[in-house]
Amino acid sequence: MGSTEDLEYPQIIMQYSNGFLVSKVMFTACELGVFDLLLESGKPLSSDAIAAHLGASTMGMKRLLDACVGLKLLAIEMTQEGGLLGQFNMGLESHLFQSMQLMTKHIMVWMMVMIASVLHLYLRSDEEMLKFMAGQNSVWTICGRDVLAAFDLSPFTQIYDLGGGGGALAQECVSLYPNSTVTIYDLPKVVRVAKEQFVSPEERQITFHEGDFFNDSIPEAELYILSKILHDWDDDKCKKLLAKVYKACKPGGGVLLVESLLNEDKSGPVETQLYSMNMLVQTEGKERTASEYSKLLEAAGFGMIQVKRTGKLYDAVLGRKE
Ligand SMILES: C[S@@+](CC[C@H](N)C(=O)[O-])C[C@H]1O[C@@H](n2cnc3c(N)ncnc32)[C@H](O)[C@@H]1O
Repeated sequence: MGSTEDLEYPQIIMQYSNGFLVSKVMFTACELGVFDLLLESGKPLSSDAIAAHLGASTMGMKRLLDACVGLKLLAIEMTQEGGLLGQFNMGLESHLFQSMQLMTKHIMVWMMVMIASVLHLYLRSDEEMLKFMAGQNSVWTICGRDVLAAFDLSPFTQIYDLGGGGGALAQECVSLYPNSTVTIYDLPKVVRVAKEQFVSPEERQITFHEGDFFNDSIPEAELYILSKILHDWDDDKCKKLLAKVYKACKPGGGVLLVESLLNEDKSGPVETQLYSMNMLVQTEGKERTASEYSKLLEAAGFGMIQVKRTGKLYDAVLGRKE
């Protein structure tokens, strides 16, 4: 992650919130004893060996260690058997990590006191949802154009934004493609909040559809946008959802995935590794590579898959129904 000197408001907010994730990853690895274990072993260890020693899940530990490598907290050495992880400078780091372990014991209490004293209230779930939707929306006012202009979507005039949330991406879409109409498809309570709080009734090119994309039908359309949807779910659920989308999609239509793409060897970008840690904690999903998304699309029947990395936080993958 770069220095804040090159950043302007509001991108700087994202940088700071990523800083929070960086600290969480470092403290978690510390608290679990990853650095102590490597120090004691005196030699690099595989991710599976670290997980086994610490009684942790192999999948969760792999994701944590990938993020530690991306953050340059651990060094990786590639061998024929796979990657081995080690510390850069055992002696120096052990002192730093020991003092950090002490800090982690106090830091959560300190954060909770700080939050409680600033807010003087407990967030209720409706309030939390509103804040979540506003947060998601603000990402698209900053980088919505990059993902929507990654491909020429003008041939698609009838678009469904599945799990469209607060609607900011839909709004960017109709302003970039004035001939399109976008239907925001989301759970009833989310649609209600989107209508009341975020999308003006004068916005004639935007309509709403209340539904559960796993259990209810998905109407026919030319293009489906799935923005930050698949990263919430495991592969089986993604395949199930994409198969439904494929069935509903008009021939010649397509699906646009908007996600933050991991490098093919999962070595970065560090922001995406951090998001994947966040997914591990909060959802059933994970961040994926472009080929992992392509495989999910192909399994559902989509072809002519194109990938565009925007160089920003989110990227775009387009699949077509021939
Ligand atoms: C991570 S948010 C992404 C929101 C939006 N697409 C964006 O990019 O800002 C996931 C969205 O999926 C919606 N969602 C989750 N499960 C759903 C379901 N079963 N049916 C419809 N929408 C769902 C959530 O309500 C939420 O709006």
